Amino acid sequence: GLVLGLEGTAWNLSAALFGEDLVALHSSPYVPPKGGIHPREAAQHHASVMKEVVSRVLTEPERIKAVAFSQGPGLGPSLRTVATAARALSIALDVPLVGVNHCVAHVEIGRWATGFSDPIVLYASGANTQVLGYLNGRYRIFGETLDIGLGNALDKFARSHDLPHPGGPVIETLARQGNYIEFPYTVKGMDLAFSGLVSAAQESSAPLEDVCFSLQETAFAMCVEVTERALAHAGKNEVLLVGGVGANGRLQEMLQVMCEDRGASFAVPERTYLGDNGAMIAYTGKIMLEHGVVLPLEESQIRPGYRADEVEVVWRTEPGE
Ligand code: ATP
Ligand code: FE2
Repeated sequence: GLVLGLEGTAWNLSAALFGEDLVALHSSPYVPPKGGIHPREAAQHHASVMKEVVSRVLTEPERIKAVAFSQGPGLGPSLRTVATAARALSIALDVPLVGVNHCVAHVEIGRWATGFSDPIVLYASGANTQVLGYLNGRYRIFGETLDIGLGNALDKFARSHDLPHPGGPVIETLARQGNYIEFPYTVKGMDLAFSGLVSAAQESSAPLEDVCFSLQETAFAMCVEVTERALAHAGKNEVLLVGGVGANGRLQEMLQVMCEDRGASFAVPERTYLGDNGAMIAYTGKIMLEHGVVLPLEESQIRPGYRADEVEVVWRTEPGE
C-alpha cells in the first residue's frame, strides 16, 4: 500500500506518495515578495496551491492506505491549512490519519536516504537547530539553540545587507572569498545561541566576504562542538546532517573532518530529502502506520510546539533487543 504525506509547517507545501520507495513528490515553495516569511501569507499560499500539489501525486487513490501530515512544530496558520486538507482527504479516501512530528520525519528520511542505523543527528534548518540521538525509545534532544535557528540567523544577517532570501546559499558563496575575523562564540553546556553572533556580524565594518566567512565558521564550529560531544557521550559512531542548512558545503566539510578524527562515519541525504519535503512525512507516516500508530480525527489538532522527544518511537527497538 501507499501513504500520502503532506508537509507544510513553514514555507514549502509539499505532497508525496511513499510505498516501498518514493512514488511521487510535488512541492510548491512560498517565496516571500520581500523580507521574511509572514505566517498568514504562507498559509494563504498553501491554501491556494493545495489542490494542484495534492492532485499531482494523487495518481492511485485506491492504493492509498493512510494520509500522513506534519502536525508540528511549525507556524500555526500553515499547520492548520495542512491539517484541514489532511482530514478532508482521510475522510474522502476512507483511510486513517497519521500525525507526524516534523523533526522526527527529518531524522527518519535521513536514515532512510543514507542507510545509517543509529546516528547522532545535527538538524539545522531555518527555525530549528538541534542535536538528537535515539535513546530508550525516543529521539532525545542532546542540545539545541536557545534563541533562533541557524538558518534564520543566516537569513536575518542576509536581510540586513539586502541580500536575497533565503540568505544561506548567498552567504555560502560570499564566504568562499573571505578571511577570518573573531566573532562571539556561544555554547552553553550542550546548547547554542546565535543572536549575539548575528548582531556582531551585522555591526561589523569588515568586508562583507570576511563577515560571511566568519559568521559561518563561528556558527558551524558551535554546531560541530555540540555534535561531537553528543557523539562521544552517547557512544555512537555515525553523524547525520539534515535540514535546509545541511546543503552548506562548508558545514558538511567541518562535520566530515570531526568524524574522521573520531573514526565515525558522516553522511548527508541528497537535496530532495534535506529541506522540508512531503517525502519525509509520507515515509515516516508509513512506518508509523505499519506499527499501528494512527490518529483519531478528534485528536488531530495541530501542535505548533511539538517536540521530537514527545514522540514514542515504537518503530525502533533498542540495539540488541
Ligand atoms: P524547519 O521547519 O525544519 O525549521 P525550514 O522551514 O527552515 O524548516 P528548511 O528547508 O529545512 O526549511 O531550511 C531552510 C533554511 O536553509 C533557510 O534558512 C536557508 O537559508 C537555509 N539554507 C539553504 N541552503 C543553504 C546553504 N547552502 N547554506 C546555509 N543555509 C542554507
Ligand atoms: Fe524542516
